[in-house]
Amino acid sequence: MNFNGIERMGRIQLRVHDFEKSVDYYTNVLGLDITGRDENRVYLKAWDEWDHHSVILEKSDSAGMEHMGFKVTNNEVLDTLEKKIGDFGCTIERISNKSRVGEGEAIRVHVPSGHKIEFYHDIDYVGVPTGRLNPHPWPDGLRGISPHRLDHALLSGDDIVDTKRLFKDILGFVETEKVVTVDGEQLIATWLTTTMTGHDIAIIKGPVGKLHHVGWYLESWHDILKASDILSRNEIEIDVTPTRHGITRGQTIYFFDPSGNRNEVYTGGYAVYSDFPTITWTEDKLGQGIFYHRRQLNEAFGSVFS
Ligand SMILES: [Fe+2]
Repeated sequence: MNFNGIERMGRIQLRVHDFEKSVDYYTNVLGLDITGRDENRVYLKAWDEWDHHSVILEKSDSAGMEHMGFKVTNNEVLDTLEKKIGDFGCTIERISNKSRVGEGEAIRVHVPSGHKIEFYHDIDYVGVPTGRLNPHPWPDGLRGISPHRLDHALLSGDDIVDTKRLFKDILGFVETEKVVTVDGEQLIATWLTTTMTGHDIAIIKGPVGKLHHVGWYLESWHDILKASDILSRNEIEIDVTPTRHGITRGQTIYFFDPSGNRNEVYTGGYAVYSDFPTITWTEDKLGQGIFYHRRQLNEAFGSVFS
């Protein structure tokens, strides 16, 4: 259990430049449900999520992550975070109530890696199709890959040391794993969680303010294989076919949305408690850490960000 009042990664807003094609991909191939629209945005959720939305697609000329948001336990936590993060030195804005469909007030933080991270509590409750009374394990009518939920994002930036300091020391996230240079002197990547999963956010040294990928959770290795079938059937560009990560031990497949935002569906991993000790990987073992079987990065993995 965490004591920082930050529940989980609750949403991500992605910029997409081929809007109708992207909406079709996120609904019919990835298999999310549309829950709202406004002039330039579509709001979506995975079938097993209770809140109004976890993904917002924004019409844009470019790809990338507009922001990601963490849900907190109540609105008082927002005041506490505003003070703590302000003292740390980040610029903070208030996002007013109803700026987006289904959402209340939020605080928006400009973190050292160059990303916008929001914290919020109020969001409309929608529920899940299986309900809360004697539920079946999954609903009828699922489309495409149909993940259970949004899981995590991997971001890139230059100042990853201060970004890690913010999440770990100020916000109380657990650092589950990290990659360092062989001499142990420099941080190359860090995996951070506020839940019991291996990571809610990970940050790797790289281009400032960029998205490496966003990941959704599936139930089993077989679901990852089936996701790969669905992607191939729909002629979606696959970055990495099903394999296992050394870091987090997750089972995974990477692919691209129509705008070039890398997506992942993911399962497995371990449980994280507040006393979880940080696992260290050295840079010379990065290939095995990322792709445990192939033991080397493919070219796109280290060079394509959005
Ligand atoms: Fe991932």
